[in-house]
Amino acid sequence: MGRAHPQIETGTLEALREHYDSHGQGHVFRFWDRLDAAGRERLRTQAAAIDLPAVLRAHAASAAAKPGASDFEPAPVERLPDHGGDPAQFERAAERGRALLAAGRVAACVVAGGQATRLGFDGPKGTFPLGPLTGRSLFELQAQKIRGLGRRHGRPLPWYVMTSPATDAATRGFFARNANFGLPRDDVVFFVQATVPSADFAGRLMLERPDRIFENPNGHGGVLTALLDSGALDDMDRRGIDTLFTYQVDNPLVRMADPVYLGFHDAARADMSCKVVCKVDPAEKVGVVARAGGRIRVIEYSELDAECRAARDPAGNLVYWGGNIAIHVFATAFVRRVAGDAERLLPYHASEKPIPTLDAGGRPVTPSRPNARKLERFVFDALPAAKRVCVLEANRCAEFSPVKNAEGPDSPETARRDLSARARAWIEAAGIEGIPGERDVEVDHSLIDGPDDARALGIHRISEAGNAILTAPGVVS
Ligand code: UTP
Repeated sequence: MGRAHPQIETGTLEALREHYDSHGQGHVFRFWDRLDAAGRERLRTQAAAIDLPAVLRAHAASAAAKPGASDFEPAPVERLPDHGGDPAQFERAAERGRALLAAGRVAACVVAGGQATRLGFDGPKGTFPLGPLTGRSLFELQAQKIRGLGRRHGRPLPWYVMTSPATDAATRGFFARNANFGLPRDDVVFFVQATVPSADFAGRLMLERPDRIFENPNGHGGVLTALLDSGALDDMDRRGIDTLFTYQVDNPLVRMADPVYLGFHDAARADMSCKVVCKVDPAEKVGVVARAGGRIRVIEYSELDAECRAARDPAGNLVYWGGNIAIHVFATAFVRRVAGDAERLLPYHASEKPIPTLDAGGRPVTPSRPNARKLERFVFDALPAAKRVCVLEANRCAEFSPVKNAEGPDSPETARRDLSARARAWIEAAGIEGIPGERDVEVDHSLIDGPDDARALGIHRISEAGNAILTAPGVVS
């Protein structure tokens, strides 16, 4: 939703103001007379870049009452071998996934444009120091995994990093200062997601400064259009990449470009795939993957009534157990199709937020209660457009522990604990001895990203592991 509507003449200032007036948004120019030349140019450029009719349509559509989900059933899920899945099928999927990686057909993409409001961290979330012993950033932990995949499969894994205007400069600067964490420059591709204006409860766009309309990043679903608009999809085509692994920056446990997942996706000839974990209890606020009208979709927590949330099968398991953890695999051709028809396929969702703005006299107002609707797209809304979807179960302890809050559940403390516990489990599974009692353990993910890697070190005691396994604080890079 970036560029001005092509059919509307907004080239001159008069035409632009007339365009805004005719849509009831002329107030965005109300401080025009006070602005200096640079301020006027900033506001004019921003206003001309906004596709106003599309923005207003999106606000109107998101405000309209929506029927709750109905007529759906649990989605078919490829269960883990521990839950009845066929181990041989998992082994075949892993082989297939490894072949895709070795053929250079896969890229990874992280969505890192969010504002980390709940965490309250002053900087892009990916720069947050999370390594339990080293304080390595979320980005560095992920870069290690990407390096490891390149080494293991003999082909570099290009990494597409989505930022937003709020996180872009700081993210690029962080990568540059850290020499891209050892990854070749050409294999780390930054692209910026679009923004969308919020509106007050009367549907009026808001000013954050006399010369600036307030816009927020357009949600993690903005990744699909940003991949198209930025040319990243063309870049993938040039590299022969047809399979895209996507994940969120705040999950340090992500199993990066998991060969098993890639293999299941490929074998199903899926347009888009989903990983799900067992919900811990009916009240856990995650969306569940379901099937409605023959299509797979995510049903948000608020859409699922209390009866469905609590429903159990005869064995006592939740019927809607498959919580979506926002780790997907896409066919790049499908991303192109959805992004090209985004207004129809990727609806905006509104949430009410307190948004700082200006009063009639131009003085800053910081509301303590919501005063506006913010619009966002969600990546899982692409699912119903997919002809074929593969849903794969993941083990929560091994793959999902997001950093959302400053403390309590889903915080740096819980993520570090889970990261350390998983490293310990890999080391124990490999029969390596000498892990100290309750102390934190951290591995270098470029060397160890699973029990097989730990075994492949060929060591018997942790003291022989060098920097691959740390059990005491230290910063290593
Ligand atoms: P969240 O919805 O948890 O948002 O994003 P957040 O910014 O991390 O945290 P809060 O809600 O402000 O506290 C989940 C993932 O989607 C990305 C985030 O960077 C994170 O990886 N995201 C979110 C974007 O890339 N762009 C967005 O517009 C929103």
